[in-house]
Amino acid sequence: MIRSHITGSGSALPRRCVSNAELAETVDTSDEWIVERTGIRQRYIAGDDETTGSLATEAARKALADAGVEPSEIGLIILATATPDRTFPATATTVQDALGCNGGIAFDVQAVCSGFLYALGTADAMLRTGMAKKALVIGAETFSRILDWEDRTTCVLFGDGAGAVVIEAREAGAGDTGILATRLHADGAHREMLYVDGGPSTTGEVGKLRMKGREVFRHAVVNLSEVLTEVLHEAGIAADAIDWVVPHQANARILDATARKLGLDPRRIVVTVSQHANTSAASVPLAFDVARKDGRIKPGDLVMFEAMGGGFTWGAALARM
Ligand code: UT7
Repeated sequence: MIRSHITGSGSALPRRCVSNAELAETVDTSDEWIVERTGIRQRYIAGDDETTGSLATEAARKALADAGVEPSEIGLIILATATPDRTFPATATTVQDALGCNGGIAFDVQAVCSGFLYALGTADAMLRTGMAKKALVIGAETFSRILDWEDRTTCVLFGDGAGAVVIEAREAGAGDTGILATRLHADGAHREMLYVDGGPSTTGEVGKLRMKGREVFRHAVVNLSEVLTEVLHEAGIAADAIDWVVPHQANARILDATARKLGLDPRRIVVTVSQHANTSAASVPLAFDVARKDGRIKPGDLVMFEAMGGGFTWGAALARM
């Protein structure tokens, strides 16, 4: 059976790291409030010369090197972002040209914080149906560009960055390797809970992020618990068999609450929100890359990815490395 296998990962962060204390010099907030309510200690903010496309390209290059794959072998690039370099063309085409693998398929997906899960699910389906053999799946964001720096209820929560994985169509190995199950959902009835108040077809401007944080929190715990249960059921695997959960990094309290609801061991959850804050579509591949490179995630491990974001959109995927 052909399955998509994750064979490499990479990530990229802007040069400038901003601590909570530095942020509190210009925003009416405190390190104590941010750490207690979210677990965030710092975030990276892109400079003028750093864009979603440049961060995505750097992460993609590292993922290719990690997988031992040449750019010319890549037939598909899916880039998840809500902060593209331009309204069009897709930032994926910028990455493709920078890598020099022109000619294959390249497009962006927009599912905000669930974007990487949507991109991974789409790439997996395309690989299994033979549309490409090797793909780059990237999550990259510069959310700092759409934050209202006067709104302390949102601006302290987000950061910039990129993460990428290489996935390859291969026969499922003896250990039942590869992406085993994926579930994606959206419920547009909740699109006013987390949105950007602008766009090409409405205001003609980029707009700023707006969020009803408490409502998003409540829905996140419920939706994530449900979708994780669905994926486990589809794969026929018990929750205690999971080696690592790589969740979207929005708030350490959401991660704790979801783990408690499902009876997951909190020590098995990869948490990078303290270092990166919420990087939207980049957060899952960034956290995955950190945990692979520091030796936590190893070949043979069963890894659950999950995310929830604006729309609402949410999803989960289970893979054996
Ligand atoms: O990635 C997409 C998914 N997004 C999320 O998952 C975000 C989900 N939501 C959350 O993470 C949390 O709801 C927040 C971190 C956004 C907020 O935490 P909370 O515990 O729900 O706080 P709250 O909104 O109920 O606000 C509590 C208090 C308020 O003051 P009063 O009204 O109680 O006097 C806020 O004005 O905290 C105040 N506050 C702040 N104080 C200092 C809000 N933001 C700040 C701030 N610094 N940055």
